[in-house]
Amino acid sequence: MTRVLERARRLRRELAFLLRLRVLPRGVAAYQWRARRLAWRLGDEFSLVSATEPEKLAALLSLAEDKHRVVELGTATGWTAISLLLADGQRVVVGYDIVERPELQMYLKLVSPAVRSRLELVCAPGEEGPRRDGHVDLLYIDSSHERAATIREVQAWAPALEDGALIVFDDFTHPEYPGVRESVQQLGLDGVERDGLFVHRMGAHQA
Ligand SMILES: C[S@@+](CC[C@H](N)C(=O)[O-])C[C@H]1O[C@@H](n2cnc3c(N)ncnc32)[C@H](O)[C@@H]1O
Repeated sequence: MTRVLERARRLRRELAFLLRLRVLPRGVAAYQWRARRLAWRLGDEFSLVSATEPEKLAALLSLAEDKHRVVELGTATGWTAISLLLADGQRVVVGYDIVERPELQMYLKLVSPAVRSRLELVCAPGEEGPRRDGHVDLLYIDSSHERAATIREVQAWAPALEDGALIVFDDFTHPEYPGVRESVQQLGLDGVERDGLFVHRMGAHQA
């Protein structure tokens, strides 16, 4: 009986999640659903808990419109990086993470080689900065969530960000990660808050 109840609860939760995916472009929603089902099969709790939620992902994708060179610090198992690639066929994403997670390869297999070829993975801390010359249109920070490390990340990537480029800080309002807000304050960055993200536009000064 308990197992039946558990299954019913999980089914309800998954249906609710499926409905939340409506805020995403169709291809991205389909990918997120397939990745989630794979996570359940793999017993990959980490991805189920840590991947960017649909509403926040929708906000990130809309901020990323026309941004073709994206860097994600804290790629984890790649759900957000892959979603960014699916949302725009011209986009390339470079993802940094200090942990090489084997599950990432499984989630990459859910998309075509053409999509996979637009993702570059770097196993290094985000604060290492760019490994090659070139501009970045959007820097998405979802890594250590610690004040000092986040500040170093921004400083390391700032030279690659031209006027108009965006820095998007995840978990800006998360009560467990005060370091994110503190880093924004210490850096004196202006910007707007959106679905738990803080968005700073390079070269823009809000009154
Ligand atoms: C919340 S998860 C990221 C989730 C991912 N952005 C997504 O949407 O699927 C945070 C990730 O940051 C990584 N991380 C922690 N400190 C880091 C650092 N200094 N540089 C790069 N990645 C880091 C962790 O290993 C973890 O995989």
